[in-house]
Amino acid sequence: MLVIVGGSMAAVKAPSVLRRLRERGAEVRVIATRAALAFITELSLSTAADGPVGTDAHWFEARPDALHLTLARVDAAVVVGASAELLAGAAHGHAGDLALATLLSVRGPVLWVPAMNELMWTHPAVQANAATLRGWGHRFLGPEVGAFGTRGEGRGVGRMSEPEDIADATLALLKGDASPAPVRDLVGVRVVVSAGPTREYLDPVRFISNPSSGKMGFAVAEAARDRGADVTLVTGPVTLPDPAGVRVVRIESALELRDTVMDAARDAGIVVMTAAVADYRAATQSGEKQAKVAGDVTVHLTPNPDILAELGREKGDRVLVGFAMETHAGVERAAGKAARKNADFILLNYPTREGTAFGGDDNQVTLVRADGSHEDWPRVSKREVAERLLTEAARLLPRQG
Ligand code: C5P
Repeated sequence: MLVIVGGSMAAVKAPSVLRRLRERGAEVRVIATRAALAFITELSLSTAADGPVGTDAHWFEARPDALHLTLARVDAAVVVGASAELLAGAAHGHAGDLALATLLSVRGPVLWVPAMNELMWTHPAVQANAATLRGWGHRFLGPEVGAFGTRGEGRGVGRMSEPEDIADATLALLKGDASPAPVRDLVGVRVVVSAGPTREYLDPVRFISNPSSGKMGFAVAEAARDRGADVTLVTGPVTLPDPAGVRVVRIESALELRDTVMDAARDAGIVVMTAAVADYRAATQSGEKQAKVAGDVTVHLTPNPDILAELGREKGDRVLVGFAMETHAGVERAAGKAARKNADFILLNYPTREGTAFGGDDNQVTLVRADGSHEDWPRVSKREVAERLLTEAARLLPRQG
């Protein structure tokens, strides 16, 4: 087991992590980055580890063996007090110090336990680096919501997980158990998510719809659940099973979707409209199957209510998120929609991109705000898009206390 201690205020908690791991029978090797040694001494780490600590100074000592390769021969590695700098270095394959060179050489599972200011953690650059590492199978524990900083002056998401939880997650990693608990920044928050297509029946057996698979909305619901939220998922007809631990309401038409979402959204903190709502429904719906007639048929359609816009009209403190699919002038049109519907932001995606959007497991979206400001996110899994969306939405929630 390798413990890498990063340069963050939370490095002072590293000895407590080391002690817990040793008490529970783990054999521990330790690396401290140069920045870590600004927060904690080599002596306190080596005492807690009951052995020497690898540092850049030792790495450059004239020795026949390559210290990074020796230290990398472990069954798992955990980065405690992972800083934005370490995440960036690892995500880009840097090997300029002992910690990074060793991380490049480790072949077992890697667990990151980040600790940094909320402003840094939520920056798209840091999120992109974390997504890259997750994409390689690296795990993350936290960061948590709470006080951070020397005097506890900071509040928000960024606080390092507690030593006991780090020890639990590390030992689970060694046993090959499921990924450790994710960030729990939505405890006590009601989240409403709409997903899938709607069906607008012309008669009992014919309808207008679209190919939405519901995967994006289900991913948002599952991610919100895992972050501690109380989740209601309102979904049109899709083939996905109900996610565990989520209140699922299955609807068909846009009118049913509207009634259910408006009701559920009343005391919600975050509403995410991923549903591909049909813009029109039949002006009159026949109760009987319409017989085939010779020649053309005219169907009279009437517009459906815009649910997101209705929510936007009485927005209050709720965070409203929409999705938009555009084939051209995407950012401009999405910004217009965010403004018109009073949404905090819209995630723009493109139906024509291969492997993304309708039915795919990945998505490549652009976050667009009403003022036209926007951020391109890389192509990542829909779950990862959901995580980033929720990080952004959580930041916009009114602060308690
Ligand atoms: O269809 P449009 O591009 O306007 O969709 C943008 C956002 O508005 C999506 O989040 C969609 O779920 C929502 N919407 C809605 N009610 C509609 C149409 C769209 O809530 N009738």
